Amino acid sequence: MLKNPHTKAQTKVLCVIGHPIEHSMSPVMHNAALKELSLDYIYLAFDVPPKDLEKVVIGFKKYDMKGINVTIPHKENIIPYLDQIEPLAEKIGAVNTIKNLNGVLVGKNTDALGAKKALIDAGCNIKDKKVLILGAGGAARAISFALSEEIDELFICNRTEKRAFRLAKAIEDKMKIPATGKDLSEGTLKSLLNEVDILINTTPIGMYPDVNESPISKELLTDRLFVYDIIYNPLQTQFIKDASEIGCNTLNGIDMFINQGALAFEWWTDKKPNKNTMKEKIIEILGKK
Ligand SMILES: NC(=O)c1ccc[n+]([C@@H]2O[C@H](COP(=O)([O-])OP(=O)(O)OC[C@H]3O[C@@H](n4cnc5c(N)ncnc54)[C@H](OP(=O)(O)O)[C@@H]3O)[C@@H](O)[C@H]2O)c1
Repeated sequence: MLKNPHTKAQTKVLCVIGHPIEHSMSPVMHNAALKELSLDYIYLAFDVPPKDLEKVVIGFKKYDMKGINVTIPHKENIIPYLDQIEPLAEKIGAVNTIKNLNGVLVGKNTDALGAKKALIDAGCNIKDKKVLILGAGGAARAISFALSEEIDELFICNRTEKRAFRLAKAIEDKMKIPATGKDLSEGTLKSLLNEVDILINTTPIGMYPDVNESPISKELLTDRLFVYDIIYNPLQTQFIKDASEIGCNTLNGIDMFINQGALAFEWWTDKKPNKNTMKEKIIEILGKK
């Protein structure tokens, strides 16, 4: 059922597609910001299984869906159905935001800039630093490319080692900084943690409902690390709790999520959303869970 009682025939529609989608926070975040600015839009969520992706995109294009967020598992597979793709999204190989310009679908990646801005706004100096990323999936790709514009060296540790190699090679080839892909074993992590300044978790380990899990044992952490976990449900993962107890500066995933949403919102509507409203709404919903 639509929650906005004021929608009418002219109301413009925005949405997120993914599979599954019922846990997405994007509708509450965007609708809160749209309502505050009295913009005549509504933001919906659609569960789109992979087999339906092409026909859904064709329908959105034809029936003037103004903006689309794309989440797991479609961020890479959607690219062939787009008319244009921005250079950073092309390098990353993943799109999380689409704008429909009168039937021309343009894709960009706002996860990348959203994650980088969150890190910088949290007071983390990324310039010339060595970074270790846990995971080599879509979010890891976006963050790797965004940070590689400024950092000195990148290490990627992943459960499936060959995926870490592939991402490291892409970073070296396209971003021209040293990048190394490795496994996710305790021995490998122990040796790398002596070398790096910033440690970022992009795996889902510790995400609701497995809230007692952590991608790395507490004993391996030292207080000189800046620890960033891009999970935002829960807001304080076990990884963030362990790192805080040791004395590390830490950052959770909520600001990345809000930043990527705010960049999309502004691109679609030409209006800046109130990020505090977006954040309050998400914290309210997470608090009720
Ligand atoms: N804050 C935000 O705005 C934001 C944005 C995007 C994503 N995220 C979060 O980031 C996480 C990853 O998203 P994604 O889009 O990158 O997903 P993805 O493309 O599916 O990648 C997941 C990565 O995590 C690894 N992984 C998964 N389960 C694991 C396990 N049990 N043990 C070790 N490694 C494991 C995978 O390794 P393999 O290669 O071995 O499968 C892969 O490298 C999710 O928790 C998501 O909610 C947050």
